[in-house]
Amino acid sequence: MCGIVGYLGYRKAYPIVINGLQRLEYRGYDSAGIILINENNVNLYKTKGKVSDLKELVAKNNSNGGLALGHTRWATHGIPNNENSHPHVSNSGNLVIVHNGIIENYDTLKKELTTRGYTFTSDTDTEVLINLIEEIKTTNNCKLGEAVQLALTSVIGAYAIAVFDISKPNEIIVARLGSPIAIGIGENNKDFFIASDASPFIEYTKDAIYLDDEELAIIKLGKDIRIRKIQDNAIVEPNIQELKLNLEQIEKGGYEHFMLKEIHEQPKAILDTYRGRLLADKGIIKMGSVDNNITKFLNANRIIIVACGTSWHAGLVAEYLFEDLARMPVEVEYASEFRYRNPIINKGDIVIAISQSGETADTLAAIKLAKSKGAFVFGVCNVVGSSIARETNTGAYTHAGPEIGVASTKAFTTQITVLTLIALKLGNLKGELSNSQFHTYLQEMSLIPSKVEETLKINAIVEEIASIYKDAPNCLYLGRGYNFPVALEGALKLKEISYIHAEGYPAAEMKHGPIALIDESMPVVVIATKKGHYDKVVSNIQEIKSRKGKIIAVVTKGDTIVKELADHIIEIPETLEAFTPLLTTIPLQLLSYHIAVMRGCNVDQPRNLAKSVTVE
Ligand code: F6R
Repeated sequence: MCGIVGYLGYRKAYPIVINGLQRLEYRGYDSAGIILINENNVNLYKTKGKVSDLKELVAKNNSNGGLALGHTRWATHGIPNNENSHPHVSNSGNLVIVHNGIIENYDTLKKELTTRGYTFTSDTDTEVLINLIEEIKTTNNCKLGEAVQLALTSVIGAYAIAVFDISKPNEIIVARLGSPIAIGIGENNKDFFIASDASPFIEYTKDAIYLDDEELAIIKLGKDIRIRKIQDNAIVEPNIQELKLNLEQIEKGGYEHFMLKEIHEQPKAILDTYRGRLLADKGIIKMGSVDNNITKFLNANRIIIVACGTSWHAGLVAEYLFEDLARMPVEVEYASEFRYRNPIINKGDIVIAISQSGETADTLAAIKLAKSKGAFVFGVCNVVGSSIARETNTGAYTHAGPEIGVASTKAFTTQITVLTLIALKLGNLKGELSNSQFHTYLQEMSLIPSKVEETLKINAIVEEIASIYKDAPNCLYLGRGYNFPVALEGALKLKEISYIHAEGYPAAEMKHGPIALIDESMPVVVIATKKGHYDKVVSNIQEIKSRKGKIIAVVTKGDTIVKELADHIIEIPETLEAFTPLLTTIPLQLLSYHIAVMRGCNVDQPRNLAKSVTVE
């Protein structure tokens, strides 16, 4: 949570930092701030609200020099208001900090600092940290880098920070533990960028260093970047990576919202996910990270999947895939529960961690726990080089491209794609899928991008349905088998972006309680594709119908039975049962999108949410 952007160099810093903050708003958007340094002028602007509010506040007073540090916040300590917004300044007025993460022992540190005369204007843990740095710097009469390093050794928690001294505006100190931070390197040590991810500086440089945990970097104009380990002071050789990201990928490309763009990107995203892995004509699935560990996979006692939110729903789909196609036992765990439950994990277990951002704190902690108990941990992440991608033993990227809309869409379908490939491969190697069945699956998988494309054509029908139900206070989503997790995901999408209360249920479970809610004002979205318990779902639809519920059914093209019963039908192309989630999820994404737009909600930045949840 929270986005950090900084610039130090010969360019005008304000536009770089303010535009960068706008790109990082997916990380948090309840308040924002920026400090601009121009020789002897220091201008600090902070406001509750979005980066656009900050822009208005700064207005024309932005003629600054080559140093600026900005922040977009997702509140943890202290409500979103001007005082709690970053940057925070130390008591002397000299030191400035922006921070992403949580200092867990801030209260103890704050009390200690208070007894030594420090005062605080905000409720944040961050203001405590900058004063701790100041105290150490003054007491030890040391350089800023050293003071930051010493302060961080007393800190418990997670952080990505950038700190500078107003009286020495040619140097920024950056450090990380548990929260990401990237340094962009421009021309000949004259041009440096700092950001929570590389998107704010992508048009300026393709060279970046991603700090590892426990690393501190000293960025000084005219000097090479120096990196060292915080705890033992060991020198770290900077690892400069070439960025693959391009500007087009992080812009809306003509769509009104990122979410809509990302929904429409799914055919390509799925193709990119299996490109080079699915060789349908040769009857091969090639995945280096699975192939290199194939004995472990084939001999695994069970697979434990850990994830949160939408990624957890992808994990539930994977449970059906692994059990059905590879006959492997699977447990799917909320990472946040798993990590505190003293779970039983054995050496022969494979833990699969699923995360779009690769930064979700609970998933990261669950991985560390599983590793400490001897499990082999495989990651399915979208963000290359993310904390989870690095913490896992190995893994497979989804290659979905940047997902900027806070509600996950293409991340979900591409996670399912990766997990499908693994389940198919293991199913075939274990002899659970004959070669001919395996080939049928591979051939069908290669058609999925075009079938998703075809599914997207129902947009206008979904928009019309959305206009009918946009004011409903509640909504029920039902599915069975492979499509039960899709029902959960559909309900989550509606809740998070339109603020309509929605529940997902296994269709048959409805009669054990939720049926009491059904009356003529209750829309019920039912996934009723031909494959997968069709007759049973038809009976469930009849049960809803007899109670006057309004039925929106997602059906296979050409369906006649459900058509007779449902109030609205949304047709999707036919596919194998195991692949239906990749298609049935599309209309549900579009339904929540259109309802949210019609209700005037902020689709890409729903209230109270943030894209990567780096706090527990
Ligand atoms: C919902 C959504 C969240 C995330 C969850 C996990 O649309 O985006 O539920 O799925 O916060 O995030 P990652 O996948 O980044 O670990």
